[in-house]
Amino acid sequence: MTLKDSRAFLAEFGRSPRAIGAIAPSSRYLAEAMIQPVDFKTAGLIVEFGPGTGVMTDAIRRKLSPQARYIGVELNPRFCAALSSRFPGLVFVNRGAEDIEAILDPGDVGAVDAIICGLPWASLPVSLQAAIMAAIVRVLRPGGIFVTFAYLQGVMLPAAQSLRRRLKTGFARVETTKIIWRNLPPAFAYVCYAGDKPSGYKSEVERQMALGEKIMHDDRDILRALSPL
Ligand SMILES: C[S@@+](CC[C@H](N)C(=O)[O-])C[C@H]1O[C@@H](n2cnc3c(N)ncnc32)[C@H](O)[C@@H]1O
Repeated sequence: MTLKDSRAFLAEFGRSPRAIGAIAPSSRYLAEAMIQPVDFKTAGLIVEFGPGTGVMTDAIRRKLSPQARYIGVELNPRFCAALSSRFPGLVFVNRGAEDIEAILDPGDVGAVDAIICGLPWASLPVSLQAAIMAAIVRVLRPGGIFVTFAYLQGVMLPAAQSLRRRLKTGFARVETTKIIWRNLPPAFAYVCYAGDKPSGYKSEVERQMALGEKIMHDDRDILRALSPL
């Protein structure tokens, strides 16, 4: 992470703290852990949500095969413009992740191989979390992966419990990476594998919305995996 990136990030955090959700970009160690589960030999379409100043984008770009496509979806217009000039070979869209179905070509809905996600889940409204999660489940191919990170310090908070419940409900399998201590603050990632498609987008949104109102108490298996908690 460069000093310029750190400054740009902090400035945007000052403008809209909830949408940015962190005071500093992720480290390259977290970025490496996030992309490690992606099979770059076979992946044809990779989407990134909330690329920010591009630390994960850079890690993805280094591994992207020549025939693979990348779409970065970044809500912040200044980050989006800076990403487009820094990575001229990649496509960036200045919209919200919740619009992913409209952003993709119709033939790519249900065919995305991997989504690498830097969204600040804890500070997103419940209705937006539900809409984004439902759209993610809808656009991934069966067996496709969704990777998102969480800060260790917040793992017991209701927002984190709510995210785990959403993940466990939306995906066939949810795993965690090791804790990345060389990140400020220390973090880990959830690696989620898509199963078969739910019966319909509306019902998935409703399911995800209902989850926002309850807090999960049976997620000890995920917490146990995060040793040494
Ligand atoms: C915590 S930062 C992570 C940035 C970067 N991925 C990293 O790890 O350093 C969250 C990013 O998500 C973006 N963001 C917030 N809400 C969004 C949304 N609904 N759709 C797309 N991007 C969003 C913010 O503008 C910001 O760039």
